[in-house]
Amino acid sequence: MRSGPPVASYIVSDHVFRAPKGTRDILWPDSARWRNLVEVFSEVVGSAGYLEVIPPMFEHVEVFQRLGEATDVVRKEMYSFEDKGGRTIALRPEQTASVVRAFAEHRPALPYKAWYAGPNFRYERAQKGRFRQFEQVGVEVLGPTDPHLDAEVIALGWRFYERLGLRRVTLLVNSLGSAEDRVRYVEALRTHFTVDQDALSEESRVTLEANPLRVLDSQREADAPLIAAAPRMLDHLSADAEAHFAGVTEALDAIEVPYTISPRLVRGLDYYVRTTFEFAAEALDAAQNAVGGGGRYDGLAADLGAPETPGVGFALGVDRTLLACDAEGVFDAPAAAVDVFVVDVTGGDEAVVLTDLIRVDGLRADRAWDGRSMKAQMKAADRSAAALAVIVGEDEKAAGTVIVRDLRGDSGQETVTRDQMIQTLRTRLR
Ligand code: HAM
Repeated sequence: MRSGPPVASYIVSDHVFRAPKGTRDILWPDSARWRNLVEVFSEVVGSAGYLEVIPPMFEHVEVFQRLGEATDVVRKEMYSFEDKGGRTIALRPEQTASVVRAFAEHRPALPYKAWYAGPNFRYERAQKGRFRQFEQVGVEVLGPTDPHLDAEVIALGWRFYERLGLRRVTLLVNSLGSAEDRVRYVEALRTHFTVDQDALSEESRVTLEANPLRVLDSQREADAPLIAAAPRMLDHLSADAEAHFAGVTEALDAIEVPYTISPRLVRGLDYYVRTTFEFAAEALDAAQNAVGGGGRYDGLAADLGAPETPGVGFALGVDRTLLACDAEGVFDAPAAAVDVFVVDVTGGDEAVVLTDLIRVDGLRADRAWDGRSMKAQMKAADRSAAALAVIVGEDEKAAGTVIVRDLRGDSGQETVTRDQMIQTLRTRLR
């Protein structure tokens, strides 16, 4: 017969529910690593005066339509639905539009430097590194047009990857020019692709109608020759946009953030003007090696009802960044959830008090349950990966002492009074 705790009664049939396609459960220790990543991000951007904003996870669908009617994100991937009040709502596919909507609504003082962390939803083809619910950390700044701000934003992403220990990230930068340059460039592209449109894939011919820029994003082999021969945005920049881009790259040079100019970098959202950039993790397959990206979106705030206010920002994919960390063997998950494991062979009452004492003092402590044997409790202590065990048997209870035993190193064990316990634990954990 099976021993141990009873089978949970909610499993009423042999059917086991699974998380929906494109979603997953992040269990410990991955969840701890995840939280640590957000913590490091908040420190890096906090060092530059960015303040956290927590926008809602859903908005009126019109907010996201500003991302571009021709983008996959809006056309194919949005989780939108009518709520019980008859509103058309969409789960956010990204957070830039939400943050800028919040800016338009609350009008905080300029410059408004915000950071965020949280899930986004896109109905994409699920695969490794591509999920339907995925997490981003990001920053957005509203106000200045200063190219040094673009460089600050880019550098924060770069420094964050450095802090995680990633060494094989490359930074691609491009300029899409001013809104007017962009219009001129899009027309040049339209002409270029239209002349030879029979050579384009069927999908790209449809994309060409809606937005020729998006054709540059095509990964289909048939499109490669025409894309390679396409006019370059950098040759269509106005003097103003060219000077702005030079300001960005000179500032990056000054702080020694290495980058590659990538004239075909268009990104998947339509709000960008002038600077765009992407971080690629060389340790990942090309299909999911974009670990983050961003750029300027000077027209978005006005589109969402604020006075004309330029903006720039980026978002980094947490899931993919952690995959890159795996591939490079950096930013490990923590080995243990607790520092101390209490082994009580007097029946369990001692463990109630000792774990509480240790926790109140700020250390992390766990214990075994159900009056298990000494051997079973020691096994549990080992499994917990705690550095130290506090052991109490009848003799120690009578003498008002505990045994503190090293579970990982070779410093053995000692018997100390209860008053000395915390000090002993702290000294040994140092
Ligand atoms: P994005 O390029 O769509 O930009 O997403 C940024 C990053 O989020 C990507 O580089 C990738 O790492 C991650 N990501 C996107 N989709 C998925 C997915 N389905 N599964 C896993 N990871 C994914 C934006 O979202 C813009 N809001 C960035 C921005 C901020 N631009 C200006 N400010």
